[in-house]
Amino acid sequence: MQRAMLVVLSALLAGLGAAAQGSAAAYDGTAKVFRLDGGNVTYAFGVNPRGELQQLYWGGRLGATDRIPAAVPKREAASFDSSYTTTPQEYAGWGAGLFVEPAIKVTFTDGNRDLVLHYDRHESATDGFNVVLKDIKRNVFVTLHYSIDPVSGILSRSATIENKEEQPITIEQAAAAAWSVPAGHYTLDYLTGRWGGEWTLTQEKLSPGERVIESRRGSTGHQANPWFAIEAGDAPDENAGEVWFGALAWSGSWRITVEQDQLDAIRVTGGFNPFDFGYVLKPGEKLETPVFYGGYSAHGLGGASRLLHHYEVAHVLPRRVGDGEDAAPKPRPVIYNSWEATEMNVSEEGQIALAEKAAALGVDRFVMDDGWFGQRKTDHAGLGDWYVNSQKFPHGLKPLIDKVHALHMDFGLWVEPEMVNPDSDLYRKHPDWVLNFPGRPRSESRNQLVLNLARQDVRDYVLGFLDKLLNENDIAFLKWDYNRNWSEPGWDQLPPNEQKEVYVAFTRNLYWVLSELKKRHPKVELESCSGGGGRVDLGILQYADEVWPSDNTDPFDRLTQQDGFTYAYTPQVMMAWVTDSPHWGNKRSTSLQYRMLSSMQGSLGIGANITKFTDQEMATAKRLIAAYHQVQKTIVQGDLYRLISPRNGSEFSATQTVNKDKSQSVVFAFIHSTQEGRGFPILKLKGLDPKAEYTLTPIEGAVLKGSPTTASGAWWMNHGLVTGDDFRGDFQAAAFRLDRK
Ligand code: DGJ
Repeated sequence: MQRAMLVVLSALLAGLGAAAQGSAAAYDGTAKVFRLDGGNVTYAFGVNPRGELQQLYWGGRLGATDRIPAAVPKREAASFDSSYTTTPQEYAGWGAGLFVEPAIKVTFTDGNRDLVLHYDRHESATDGFNVVLKDIKRNVFVTLHYSIDPVSGILSRSATIENKEEQPITIEQAAAAAWSVPAGHYTLDYLTGRWGGEWTLTQEKLSPGERVIESRRGSTGHQANPWFAIEAGDAPDENAGEVWFGALAWSGSWRITVEQDQLDAIRVTGGFNPFDFGYVLKPGEKLETPVFYGGYSAHGLGGASRLLHHYEVAHVLPRRVGDGEDAAPKPRPVIYNSWEATEMNVSEEGQIALAEKAAALGVDRFVMDDGWFGQRKTDHAGLGDWYVNSQKFPHGLKPLIDKVHALHMDFGLWVEPEMVNPDSDLYRKHPDWVLNFPGRPRSESRNQLVLNLARQDVRDYVLGFLDKLLNENDIAFLKWDYNRNWSEPGWDQLPPNEQKEVYVAFTRNLYWVLSELKKRHPKVELESCSGGGGRVDLGILQYADEVWPSDNTDPFDRLTQQDGFTYAYTPQVMMAWVTDSPHWGNKRSTSLQYRMLSSMQGSLGIGANITKFTDQEMATAKRLIAAYHQVQKTIVQGDLYRLISPRNGSEFSATQTVNKDKSQSVVFAFIHSTQEGRGFPILKLKGLDPKAEYTLTPIEGAVLKGSPTTASGAWWMNHGLVTGDDFRGDFQAAAFRLDRK
């Protein structure tokens, strides 16, 4: 029966021709091999003679009729390296002499800590399988969920752990998945940073041992992001070469380990961070891990990020409109945000003055940031008291919201629901609601404490005030902020041995509140912000329509940050504001054109004090917002090519995006500082239809000399785009569009 199914699927795939399309999940019952095909990718694993689930292949799509041989365990390399440890298992329990990173580690009530998982059974699932493993002796079951995306070949993997014993077990480590790549020479890419300096692409040669990428902070973190890529070879390449990559969908403490074992094989294991982890599974209970997505590209880091962008837009982000693979979220409204203009000094009059100017620029959405609630004058007070400050807004929010609507914009509001200032009514009433260890100090950051969202009363309070706010006011958008990490993460409502469950329960309740809000207010859109890019991951992006990548809005710094951001995340969610010059952070002065073009590479916003804009600045911003609106979909949902990276002190940088049907392309070019009169490099464009004719139109910034205005895709890709000799200087920017004739 299963063999017959394989034959049918094979025939189907063969009929799809050389350009592999569609997906298939087939089980070869004779060889006990599971095979998943999607896009240009094949992934395979099998049950080896010992009963372990062993990875067999992950790479370019294999022929539909190719038969993958049965799993054979790797040999015992020495008496010090057992076959159990050298065999690349899909989800290895810690037991039986495993020295590499386990996917799961448990302690039983009787003190036994040995867990050896063998294949038990499986069932088909949409574009994949659910494969059940069981401990060799005890009734601990782990169901591995697999599915593959037919277009991008991106796999989603997760695990459900179930205790069918009569005693509780404590889970000390639980990964979503472990990925294996055969022995070889590789470069590891990952994203690191700090507040105001997120999204640094860090690249290093993989060498023996383990590289740990993690957050122990209770949330995703600025310092590392749950994304990795492994490139074949020692020289990173944007355009060519094999890349295996993955991203973890979890907004709590997480960990990804990248390990080169003693035989040079690579294993990447990711899921809940095992640091301070302890999840008690009572008899009959289950624990579900987050999803770990994984993909493969033969076209370098550029190819990898295009696949990930496609997948995020098509499958992860909320509110997709359209059908099937064409379903996509709408490009984001161009927003105005008041933070850098007023900080917490908000008032009805001041916000209306900003709104009038924003509307004159062609902005779609007006967002009032921090300062509108409770006794919020500085960051010392107010968080937790989500009523409108009557001194600042004597008639409530309605007059401001009505005015914003009359100006043909919709209205958005800032909130920070999981936080409380000790100087607040909420804290005075419920001091027990914060994360804390009784009798120990409560460490403040930015004068605030973290509400323990794992508690049901806190969860209900948060949902309740947000629901009320949205019921009472016509609000289209919430900017959901989160401005500190955890300390003293105690949860004394639970017995001592269960208190560490806070790491899972907090994040699950966050997702619950977000999904409940979406059910009750389906039109309200959300931004995930955590002092900039501290909560960006594929977990929160199931609920958030956009993210705030960084509080650093310097347009030059943003080029590198945006470059880093796009390795993992689509420009669709990458909000980018144009703010004042000189910039508050670097004291650097840049032209409005430069600032606009830097921000136009993502989802555009304005965050400057526009009441001070000159007529000329108003005209420039208005013209560029109109130009952006025309090509926005190509920029944020098209295929992104990072033509010249701004990293490593590059004098130049450039990006290009091409829309789905290759009828439009947008190019951005930036100069840091011309040296020795060097002209801007010729830009060899990518992704166009070589046979089609495209007309080049400058959007801003460069006078074209020596370039045709109409030429074939082949011309633009082979000869390249010459930006013109006048395109020189300090902090210069240019943008172009190409439209198919
Ligand atoms: C941090 C955010 O990243 C800023 O944009 C702003 O909203 C402030 N918080 C407000 O306190």
